[in-house]
Amino acid sequence: MSRLIINGGNRLNGELEISSSKNAYLPILAGCILSDGKVTLHRYPNYTDTDNMCNILKHLGGKIERHNDILEVDCSSLSKYDIPTDLAMVVRSSIFALGAIISRFRRAKVAYPGGCEIGSRPIDIHLSGLRQLGVKIVEKHGYIYCDGNNMHNANIVLDFPSVGATENLMMASVLVKGETVLYNCAKEPEIVDLQNFLNILGAKVSGAGTDRIIINGVKKLGGGEYTPIRDRIIAGTYIIACAMCGGDVLLKGANPLFLHSLISKIDKYACQIECEYDKIRVKSLGKPLSLGKVETAVYPGFPTDLQAQILALQTISSGSCMIVENLFESRFKQVPELIKMGASIHIKDRIAIVKGVDKLFGADVIATDLRGSASLVLAGLSAEGYTTLNSTKFIDRGYERIEEELSQLGGDIKRVED
Ligand code: EPZ
Repeated sequence: MSRLIINGGNRLNGELEISSSKNAYLPILAGCILSDGKVTLHRYPNYTDTDNMCNILKHLGGKIERHNDILEVDCSSLSKYDIPTDLAMVVRSSIFALGAIISRFRRAKVAYPGGCEIGSRPIDIHLSGLRQLGVKIVEKHGYIYCDGNNMHNANIVLDFPSVGATENLMMASVLVKGETVLYNCAKEPEIVDLQNFLNILGAKVSGAGTDRIIINGVKKLGGGEYTPIRDRIIAGTYIIACAMCGGDVLLKGANPLFLHSLISKIDKYACQIECEYDKIRVKSLGKPLSLGKVETAVYPGFPTDLQAQILALQTISSGSCMIVENLFESRFKQVPELIKMGASIHIKDRIAIVKGVDKLFGADVIATDLRGSASLVLAGLSAEGYTTLNSTKFIDRGYERIEEELSQLGGDIKRVED
């Protein structure tokens, strides 16, 4: 197991290229299950979540070859339609594979998904949509048994604009005859990316990015080549890091259109942000001002995946801030660790009241989940003294060797293998 040791206080300067989006790559890897040709994916990132998704494809019988950051995926001779517990439990997006497996094989046996423990993370919307597509579902012994022999097109209204359910149902209906319409869909950029990828393979999907997605079923999907979008949450994390530590950073490949909610929130309050279509420049403005109130919402609202990071920023602001987490019921797990570092934070249910302090002090802190770990890294970078993050197992799920990227910008952060 490895730890991170951070010596806080350095400003961050220089430029960094943003890696591919974890939350685009994961459904796209699941989408490869639908293809009976060869798929070439570019800019493959080094995240444990994407590696675990590749392990699921290999378990199903997929052939995967990696040449640097190019991934060749061949699912033409898939032989299985089950995902066992040990593979499903390590990544939330294992559930995305269900829709693709069902669409292609008309049957599936999938264990319940895992993922960061930021709430109960039910899959009722996924299963309700599959049932409306005619899938017979029996849940027993920790598995979801699906019979899709009588699948048919449908009009489905999602109870909530769930990202994963939107993606799952898009993939479940791609090979189902007729027109399926999904209403009340999530609108994240990663969903648009999945649509673009599926259409490259020969699917007929439209409307992604809006709350209504139309899928006209086709007989089969062929191969193709695709480069997924870059990770807007990583870009947002480094924007906040610069605002906290001071400095001047250029993020190449970052798309400001995907970060409007963050940029409009912190520009002029914590940093000065200059945008071009594929890069973002951040210059800190000294001690961050209080943002007053931040409420997470579905896209294009403020992303829940940047809530822990903006909370860290506000611990050293010049005032108080109310942070409301509307998406997940347990996404403040890193707060006790921030308090160990000298932060002043009070939690009540889904609300955090953060009172800015002069500065944080390094401490030995415990990693709790992916974005909570990122929040602790940012706090350590800005704190006085040394911070040790006890494990990288969470942060490696969605950041590529974060210590190398931050060191490239001047941060004093090292990975230590135990
Ligand atoms: C995706 O998770 C992302 N993960 C999450 O990113 C992100 O936080 C989340 O969307 C919201 O933006 C991936 O894309 C792999 P949801 P997902 O279904 O699909 C409730 C990260 O840090 N819900 O949109 O699991 C659910 O409980 C991760 O990169 C149901 O009630 O999120 C939550 O309250 C963390 N029933 C809300 O919807 C369902 O069937 C949003 O969840 C499904 C979801």
